[in-house]
Amino acid sequence: MEAERLNLAAPNLADPRLAWYLDARFGLFIHWGAYSVAGTEASWPVMAPRLSEAMFGTASKISEAAYRALPERFNPVDFDADAWVRTAWDAGMRYIVITAKHHDGFCMFDAPGTEYKITRTAFGRDVCKELSLACATRGMRLGFYYSPPDMNHPGYRNTNKPIASNWLGEPKRKEWAGYLDYMESQLRKLLSDYGPVSLIWFDGLCNHQKYDTARFHKLIHELSPDTLINDRLGPGYDFVTPEQFIPKTGIPVKTGKAPSSDGPESEKFFRQVVFLFKIPGIRGWIKKQMAKYSDGSMELVPVVQEPNPSPERFQSWETCMTIGRSWAYNPDETVWKTPRELLRNLVLVASGGGNYLLNVGPTDKGSFPPESLERLAYLGRWMKKNSAAIYGSSYTSLPVQAWGRATRKGDKVFLHVFEWPSEGKLQVAGFPSGALKASLLSGEALSFLATKDGLEISVPQKAPDVDVSVLVVDIDPSKGQGSTP
Ligand code: GLC
Repeated sequence: MEAERLNLAAPNLADPRLAWYLDARFGLFIHWGAYSVAGTEASWPVMAPRLSEAMFGTASKISEAAYRALPERFNPVDFDADAWVRTAWDAGMRYIVITAKHHDGFCMFDAPGTEYKITRTAFGRDVCKELSLACATRGMRLGFYYSPPDMNHPGYRNTNKPIASNWLGEPKRKEWAGYLDYMESQLRKLLSDYGPVSLIWFDGLCNHQKYDTARFHKLIHELSPDTLINDRLGPGYDFVTPEQFIPKTGIPVKTGKAPSSDGPESEKFFRQVVFLFKIPGIRGWIKKQMAKYSDGSMELVPVVQEPNPSPERFQSWETCMTIGRSWAYNPDETVWKTPRELLRNLVLVASGGGNYLLNVGPTDKGSFPPESLERLAYLGRWMKKNSAAIYGSSYTSLPVQAWGRATRKGDKVFLHVFEWPSEGKLQVAGFPSGALKASLLSGEALSFLATKDGLEISVPQKAPDVDVSVLVVDIDPSKGQGSTP
């Protein structure tokens, strides 16, 4: 019982489908499409331009006609799937999720039922297929982001009207049924012709019920039982997806419900924000709130959290986050997250039992922007030495420590030190008695003693790493180590 409280059992391993996912911890999100030609955010500039600017920081001065014509100029001759996969792998990432179709409806695969797809451009190649082959060669997992909202399909909305007027879709029109069939044919294709698909990452925006959640979950389970499904198409999901933020008050727990907007009332949120934007006095306030979305200080779609849930209550989760401010390629990006921030985010996420899905927006030519490459390489250098403290690790019941965070794997507790102690002693508050051994992750043994507050470890004067130094404490779970501090 005590052992359970220290989470000796890996969370959620009751479902073996999740084993690889919990082990991987770190993935690459790719937002790539014809929008990259304009260097504008994906889809949003024609759906809700002002909101787009406020949320993603990209100028959205593009007409609907110009946006829709972007595929004519999309010719990513530098695209090299192997190079992408190598870059991600070297960064320590163990899965990739690419936008097979964003809200604009343009397909990055040889999609049935449409000409609005990459294989009908001058480029003509099937990006998703090439990526799936490259991933298979490397042992990299691959998942597809698939947007149920589809601005291009006349069954989703009356395409004779401006997108801004009906971007939330028109499920009451008789054409809607045809749209759901179209969605089904595309998901069938993705799950049949693209090798093993490790996950489907829906982005249903709101009112998921209009897409007939049960039908699509069933379809995926039938075609590919091991494929994981995120929470953005409603209940029945495998993991939840805090966007741009890392849960701060605890660990996500199962609720049985969709944490994100599920019912029809959720559309009101978008309608209200778009409406309020028209009012000059309120516009400034909304912009400030939206800036909080992009810097991660606002939980736009909150997840339910508890301090130290049992493995049974634990809800697998994944924070998706931009590396700059926008999802798609933005040639004018100025707000890049620092490598240190990204690295510490990865640790914060892992210490809460979550996955970190870090996004890159490749250029219209098909390469990763240099600022992204630099950051991925930086993360990779750290992961090369410290990944044992990340892969397959999960949360501990230790209280939050002033100097950093802890993760745990089996009988090892990893201490990720952000603030290295100047006095040569690291105090680990609340550590249970009976630690067997303490060392730097690189191997050097450290002396330690149990104090009334926990554990005191003698450490070298100089931090082994400028951002996050990792120590390991070996514990013996059979000797009372399971007791919650
Ligand atoms: C937002 C946006 C979308 C982006 C997604 C990734 O919900 O709608 O553009 O793809 O975040 O999480």
